[in-house]
Amino acid sequence: MKFAVKSARLNWISIVLVLSSLVPAAAQSPIRFVKTSKIFILDAGKVSYVFGINEQGMLQHIYWGGHVGRDEDFTTPNTKEWSSFDLSSTTTPQEYPGWGAGLYVEPGLKVTFADGNRDLVLHYVAHQITANTLTVTVKDIERDLLVHLHYTVYPQTGMLRREATIENRTDKAVTLESAQSASWYLPQGDGYRLRYLTGRWAGEWQLTEEPVHTGLKILESRRGSTSVQANPWFALDRDGNSDSEHGSVWFGALGWSGSWRIGVEQTAHQQVSVTGGFNPFDFGYRLAAGESLTTPSFYAGYTDGGIGAASRTLHTFERTEILPNGSGLRTRPVLYNSWYATEFKVDEAGQMALAEKAASLGVERFVMDDGWFGKRNDDHAGLGDWNVNPQKFPNGLGPLIRHVKDLGMDFGLWVEPEMVNPNSNLYRQHPDWVMHFEGRPRTEARNQLVLNLARDDVREHVFHWLDELVTINDIAFLKWDYNRNFSEPGWPEVSPEQQKNLWVRYTQNLYDILDRLRQKHPRLEIESCAGGGGRIDLGILRRAEQVWPSDNTEALDRLTIQQGFTHAYTPHIMMSWVNDVPDFNGRSVPLQFRFLMAMQGSLGIGADLNRWQPEDCALAKRMIGYYKSIRDTVQNGALYRLTLPSSRNFYASEYVSENKAQAVLFAFLHSQQFGRSVPALVLQGLDGTATYSLSRLDAKTEAKDSTLPAKLSGAYLMQHGVTLSLQGDYDSIAIKLERISP
Ligand code: GLA
Repeated sequence: MKFAVKSARLNWISIVLVLSSLVPAAAQSPIRFVKTSKIFILDAGKVSYVFGINEQGMLQHIYWGGHVGRDEDFTTPNTKEWSSFDLSSTTTPQEYPGWGAGLYVEPGLKVTFADGNRDLVLHYVAHQITANTLTVTVKDIERDLLVHLHYTVYPQTGMLRREATIENRTDKAVTLESAQSASWYLPQGDGYRLRYLTGRWAGEWQLTEEPVHTGLKILESRRGSTSVQANPWFALDRDGNSDSEHGSVWFGALGWSGSWRIGVEQTAHQQVSVTGGFNPFDFGYRLAAGESLTTPSFYAGYTDGGIGAASRTLHTFERTEILPNGSGLRTRPVLYNSWYATEFKVDEAGQMALAEKAASLGVERFVMDDGWFGKRNDDHAGLGDWNVNPQKFPNGLGPLIRHVKDLGMDFGLWVEPEMVNPNSNLYRQHPDWVMHFEGRPRTEARNQLVLNLARDDVREHVFHWLDELVTINDIAFLKWDYNRNFSEPGWPEVSPEQQKNLWVRYTQNLYDILDRLRQKHPRLEIESCAGGGGRIDLGILRRAEQVWPSDNTEALDRLTIQQGFTHAYTPHIMMSWVNDVPDFNGRSVPLQFRFLMAMQGSLGIGADLNRWQPEDCALAKRMIGYYKSIRDTVQNGALYRLTLPSSRNFYASEYVSENKAQAVLFAFLHSQQFGRSVPALVLQGLDGTATYSLSRLDAKTEAKDSTLPAKLSGAYLMQHGVTLSLQGDYDSIAIKLERISP
């Protein structure tokens, strides 16, 4: 349908006015449209988010921060123009600016129409409010290109979610050159500080911070997947005004496992915004006539409780709103994984022997890693051939799985479905199934190529073998790995204009496979792994119960990795293994230290249990028992990071259960300078009116820690704090606190 702009706008507006007059008592709704001032008020619990329709019809941002209850305080916004060099399109904080009419800041959407027109000006035409979701439709002032902006509020956490659905109602294809999910605006001013997460393989989750200056700071992945080099999370606060438990923080994360970008921009007028969505680099999504494309979800929140509360808000939000099948409300099993013990040398007898040892320690899930399929004896061959290797498992996986189940554990298996080794039957049969450009080299990484999942036939192939694998075998858990990034992202089977759709279609098809598999096998759990933490974001977390943050299991390195990780993601999903020493860096830390490190998330063991002495097994059994007594608090409670990431010599964290009845304190000393004592730890989040019993969760004798009283009040613990007797190198302690009164 083609319609003239003016009459279309009138039609939309009159429909809206009629509809909104039918809506009773708007004040009760968390989302309100105030007709007189043309503003939208979104109440997300303790957070308010406000924007309006300005005199030109643009959606103009007004406010994002702590809750403001009085609607009348907000008035109709007006465009701002500074000079002939900064037109109103640029100086007005637009909720979702099209690139046109002299826009020089980050656009929400940039397009090229079939006739070469690249000007896009988006004005309000309609809106709809359904429970906690608002959809505002904007449209180009001349063409039938519409964008439906979705806003969802989560009053329990104060989180907001935004997406944009771009709808091409013209009769020709348009090319989208940048399609962002949202722009978030912070209160005008300077002095902001940006925190973000960077990394490298085996060194993920490095917390990085820097002041925001005038200009544009880009956080991104151009790799086709989320990446370890940067994670799609940000937090902004005002330097000097906040610490880990106090002060305003605006934070957010993208839900997209493909190439993404977040741009943090400060204009010369001290307008700070955060724009995120699909990475515009090499983007060029061909949107045919009549088609729509929805951008990734961009989630954001606000707190006045410092970076600690920002993290806890995200943790709760992830557990209650993101993780699949309510898994965020349950507890995670203790896991064993065979990778570091056996690498590719898996076979029935060896895995059975490891399973017996794991079960005797109290492990609840046994996972066989790489090497069980095809001709997979090292990383040069086999990926793509997902049939059980008959030399290693002459009777299939059945006997091993039965043995594991008889031992009282469930069974998990490693897969890497998106990859193929050139040395595989799959590649020999379907060399065109990998992404490539005709006649160009196909760059291998870890001797493997990436299947072009954007192709629907490849998607179907992958879905069917996975479905068959989990139908035939009693598999409770898949460790879904992904060990390289895209190269030569060509798709020769479609027209040149459509080839760049691969950047989006690949991830959409990945999600489709996971969604269908989960739907068909509702009890199946999935771990997202990408050679470590390369695919962890709020998109994959809708489809994965847990993640593998890093291949680096070395306990001291891991403390920093885990501390960075928990800024954005909940300890509930943070798989952490106790491994053998010497580990990465050649470092050897005591077994207790390794356990206490791993007990701060979802506990696993990755060591070669054949090498463990009886005393190691005895300690392990004891630590696993301790873990089971506190895991609900660790996985589902509130995390307080008691030391800063920069204090590398000493590290402490505290977890408090939701009802404050239990808490657990972990502390680690790297290397002590003789005579220098560790700082007193002032606890947080306890019941200040209660008394707590204190008990150690580690192997030390009570005599060595005679300073630790049996009972202390919550008030004392949160005001005076506790002094721990840590000594020497790699010392560690965990204390369980149980409320005993009132
Ligand atoms: C990746 C994973 C490891 C292991 C190997 C198997 O590196 O991160 O945990 O599964 O692959 O090849």
